[in-house]
Amino acid sequence: MGIAIKTSQDIEKMRVAGKLAAEVLDYVAPHVRPGVTTGELDRLCHDYMVGVQGTIPAPLGYCPPGYRPYPKSICTSVNNQVCHGIPGDKVLRKGDVVNLDITTIKDGYHGDTSRMFFVGEPSIAARRLCEVTLECMWAGILQVRPGAHLGDIGHVIQAHAEKHGYSVVREFCGHGIGTRFHEEPQVLHYGKRGTLAELKPGMVFTIEPMINAGRREIRELADGWTIVTKDHSLSAQWEHTVLVTETGYEVLTVSPGMPAIPAAALALAPAGAVPAAIA
Ligand code: MF3
Ligand code: CO
Ligand code: CO
Repeated sequence: MGIAIKTSQDIEKMRVAGKLAAEVLDYVAPHVRPGVTTGELDRLCHDYMVGVQGTIPAPLGYCPPGYRPYPKSICTSVNNQVCHGIPGDKVLRKGDVVNLDITTIKDGYHGDTSRMFFVGEPSIAARRLCEVTLECMWAGILQVRPGAHLGDIGHVIQAHAEKHGYSVVREFCGHGIGTRFHEEPQVLHYGKRGTLAELKPGMVFTIEPMINAGRREIRELADGWTIVTKDHSLSAQWEHTVLVTETGYEVLTVSPGMPAIPAAALALAPAGAVPAAIA
């Protein structure tokens, strides 16, 4: 077993799948408005993936050991929902924040990415949580280079979240990805520098921190999928699929609508990690 090293042919296909997943988020963004249901967002994404892109929505029917088959094509996690929210009749209201998590399969390869969206104007607290969580994800991505360790990623994410008084969800993590949705390694969003596996060129995994405004504990709803915060506090998440290159990282889930790297994440980056175009 161990962590797969992708070939250049694998990587080319993962660039395609990743870009398509990100483009679904660009497509659905203008539809995230007060009054829309999470089920309508799911249908829009499903039809775009299947009908326009010719991609397969990986969540639909996904059934890891111990789970029942996931019934929808995307995940929609609103406010205190941490992840894996099942789309349905829930109407989005002004002030809600929602994570849309898209996983496409194209030519046998997966691309996995999620973003936070504001429904109307969010509260100052909700906006800040979403911003800091984006900073956490990028601080983690900027650690990625050959010779770094998985623990370096977890460490910077945890430190940044806790500096702001937030907590890191422990039960779910980033993951290796390729022809399978979830493969080795597990990418923890907390930890210690220099620990866990050493990164090597050709590894591909997601970084997808779930950050809670309150306590880190979670609970699963009776639907068998939706995860919520135990204390009902807000939770945010962002996700990219990332390749380890010879010199650093390449984000595979790129599209015109994705937010720029936040300055606060650049400030935490090791020397040499900041893209030349930005430095
Ligand atoms: N996309 C999620 C992740 O980032 C996994 C969702 S599994 C599903 O790993 F079945 F709920 F879609
Ligand atoms: Co993922
Ligand atoms: Co995902």
